[in-house]
Amino acid sequence: MATALLAPEELEAAGRGTPEGRRRRVVRRAALRIALARRAGGDPAALRMVPGPHGKPVLADSADELQFSSSSSDDCCLIAVTSTNPIGVDVERVVSRTYLERIAETRFAPAEAAAIGQLRGEAQLRAFYNCWTRKEAYLKATGAGLTQGLDRVIVSVDDERPAIVSLDGDDPVAWSVVSLDPEPGFTAAVVWRGPPTPIRDAAPLDLKNN
Ligand SMILES: CC(C)(COP(=O)(O)OP(=O)(O)OC[C@H]1O[C@@H](n2cnc3c(N)ncnc32)[C@H](O)[C@@H]1OP(=O)(O)O)[C@@H](O)C(=O)NCCC(=O)NCCS
Repeated sequence: MATALLAPEELEAAGRGTPEGRRRRVVRRAALRIALARRAGGDPAALRMVPGPHGKPVLADSADELQFSSSSSDDCCLIAVTSTNPIGVDVERVVSRTYLERIAETRFAPAEAAAIGQLRGEAQLRAFYNCWTRKEAYLKATGAGLTQGLDRVIVSVDDERPAIVSLDGDDPVAWSVVSLDPEPGFTAAVVWRGPPTPIRDAAPLDLKNN
């Protein structure tokens, strides 16, 4: 039973909102605990996770300082665990948006909005979600979340060269970006500080069937 793996404060946080939202949060956290215990060893229920300064959870007692990140959108969840550098993930369900260019202009950097504005139809929708997930995954890797400011990181929006293009206060080349479609209808990005390396054991978690 997934709830048996969670700490009381996780159960309390998961309990807010609709029953469906609660179920997703419980399964997501339980899956995160199982993934972490596979790397750190020990009992998934015994891991102690504490929130960092801006909400990024960290392991309280891990000797090998595992880095991790999790994201979910509807019933799709992505979890990344590594023993090296900061890592962030973001997954989004791809939905058509009437005011997509307007959203890009108000939320993204001018260069990103301009690149998206040159495209149309499916290509534009794809570029929009590439941009969104790459930015969000970077902000989750640093742990700053939205406090860092969406315009302080500029990402590529195309499928061919996922990358951080420009960064305020850091070298963009120090970061690696992978975009993936974990399931039909979803786009995701994984961003980590360090050289490009293959992602091992990649598998989306379907929250509906867990
Ligand atoms: C909280 C935030 C980090 C991600 O939120 P989100 O996209 O709604 O949710 P996700 O499912 O992707 O991620 C949630 C997980 O992020 C983690 N998280 C929370 N704060 C974090 C931070 N500062 N850094 C890294 N990870 C964080 C938590 O583990 C959380 O899971 P939990 O609830 O089980 O603890 C934050 O960046 C945010 O609110 N983003 C809003 C999205 C947005 O407006 N994006 C604009 C387009 S780029």
